[in-house]
Amino acid sequence: MIKTLAKSIREYKKYAILTPIFMIFEVGFEIAIPYLLSILIDQGITNRDFNKIIIIGVCLVAAAFLALLFGRLGGRSAAIASSGFAKNLREDMYNKVQDFSFINIDKFSTSSIVTRLTSDVTFVQQAFMMIIRGAIRSPITIIFALIMSFSINTKIGLIFLIASPFLGGLLIAIAKYVHPIFRKVFNTIDKLNNVVQENVNGIRVVKSFVKEEKEVEKFNKVSSDIYDYFSKAEKILAFNGPIMQITIYTCLTLISWFGAHFVVAGTLTTGELTSLFSYVMQLLMNLMMLSMIFVMIIISLESGERIAEIIEEVPDLKNPENPIMKVENGNIEFKNVSFSYVNDKEKEVLKNINLKINSGETVGIIGGTGDGKSSLVNLIPRLYDALDGEVLVGDKNVKDYDIKVLRDEVSMVLQKNTLFSGTIKENLRWGNKDATDEELEKVCKLAQADEFIQKFPDKYDTYIEQGGNNVSGGQKQRLCIARALLKKPKILILDDSTSAVDTKTDSLIRKAFAEEIPNTTKLIIAQRIASVQDSDKIIILNNGEIDAIGNHEDLLKTNKIYQEIYYSQTKGSEENE
Ligand SMILES: Nc1ncnc2c1ncn2[C@@H]1O[C@H](COP(=O)(O)OP(=O)(O)OP(=O)(O)O)[C@@H](O)[C@H]1O
Ligand SMILES: [Mg+2]
Repeated sequence: MIKTLAKSIREYKKYAILTPIFMIFEVGFEIAIPYLLSILIDQGITNRDFNKIIIIGVCLVAAAFLALLFGRLGGRSAAIASSGFAKNLREDMYNKVQDFSFINIDKFSTSSIVTRLTSDVTFVQQAFMMIIRGAIRSPITIIFALIMSFSINTKIGLIFLIASPFLGGLLIAIAKYVHPIFRKVFNTIDKLNNVVQENVNGIRVVKSFVKEEKEVEKFNKVSSDIYDYFSKAEKILAFNGPIMQITIYTCLTLISWFGAHFVVAGTLTTGELTSLFSYVMQLLMNLMMLSMIFVMIIISLESGERIAEIIEEVPDLKNPENPIMKVENGNIEFKNVSFSYVNDKEKEVLKNINLKINSGETVGIIGGTGDGKSSLVNLIPRLYDALDGEVLVGDKNVKDYDIKVLRDEVSMVLQKNTLFSGTIKENLRWGNKDATDEELEKVCKLAQADEFIQKFPDKYDTYIEQGGNNVSGGQKQRLCIARALLKKPKILILDDSTSAVDTKTDSLIRKAFAEEIPNTTKLIIAQRIASVQDSDKIIILNNGEIDAIGNHEDLLKTNKIYQEIYYSQTKGSEENE
């Protein structure tokens, strides 16, 4: 994990190395101060040697100033290094997420990706800053302070040595108990983000079902879980402070006690005792600092692992070695295809699918919810890979194509589609960034979108809000179809893409397709028989298997499922009339 994260330091390495160096200089001067002080007292003040007092006084001021200067330089470069590191981590994760296939995204969930990109990075950033500032500085201070104390008086130095294993043991115990709690904390933060995201995305649904209270309850539950875990962790961490302080004060008392005896006996000077006190303070302060760094590292280890998981994730779909760069035609073939979202033969959502579609055909796909319609068409532009069998497009296996080439030729209007914030023009040009205004208008006419766009005051420059909230469901679907058409694909897939469009417009769209893009293979998933009944072929999916393939007349005569759907829909409309 550390290796993976360290790769993101890159251009900030210089600062990450400079920081500890500055810190070492700072420590050097800080350590010199008590030493100078003891000389000042013992040789200058006790002997009333004014010359010495002035010289050492100047040295003291200079040492203090330099310590401050290097401390400040170190602080500054630590800030640059850690925020730069965090920036690179975010960028690396974001770039990785862009390469994720649908499977990778299913695995992490959107909210978890968001938490990792934000709070986890902040934790790692803080820990990194503390490490480069303190992880070298504190041990060095401790070692120097120990050496200096021993050189002044061995017996008093021993007091520190007794305290050290005690503190070490404490830190290890804390790490052991606290680390697992933080793992839970982060998983719960994922959940919290999930609740917030779901609620905010679906706020209109929440309101229309008057479920605000329930949502608040859900939020409070997760939120107080986080509180519980944190307070549990903090309770353990809170031992850190008092125990540290007890150790510090015990040390101070012991030193005062022994020190006073030695001074009276004449084996220790007043100046030496004063500097011993300073060293003791430095030493214990730095022990405290080390324990804080230690705690921070424990917290951020978990975050670090979560970040590394994203950066190390291998994109599930890879481009082949020598990809085919051209899709010859719009033929589609499935040979014994089965598919599972979790790569598990037991949990197949498509079983043993065989079918053949020729270039330019219009094919309807019909079936109940969850019967595998979306899953079936997702395999064609290789949004997922088949578990068994082969999917062929243009007579070649989809796995042999360059992914971009394949997806440009197989244009799909997803069932859960989105528009992005920006003008209509900008949204359409996702399909083809170089499209001219005339081309935009042409595809919009095909998708029956031009008519309503012309009615907007800003026409094609109308601004679409995030998620397309300021256009109606049917308008949004038509814009999505237009966007897909702009790619001039050889295969066009509409996954329930006209469900919100009125029947008349729906049939106009199909008519336009038949007249204007006759050579494009068209796959239409629909709930309404009317949307597919003129198709060359209709595929009936039932529970992940093909129940029948045929045209409207044949199916109506022979297929039970088709008859059921047909009669339920026509009967309904007759009654309505
Ligand atoms: N991303 C996913 N991860 C895991 N399982 C999924 C995923 N998407 C769909 N499924 C499961 O696969 C099965 C087939 O779903 P699919 O979306 O293909 O159905 P569908 O026929 O398109 O249904 P609908 O008419 O409601 O759109 C369902 O049981 C569903 O629960
Ligand atoms: Mg579907």
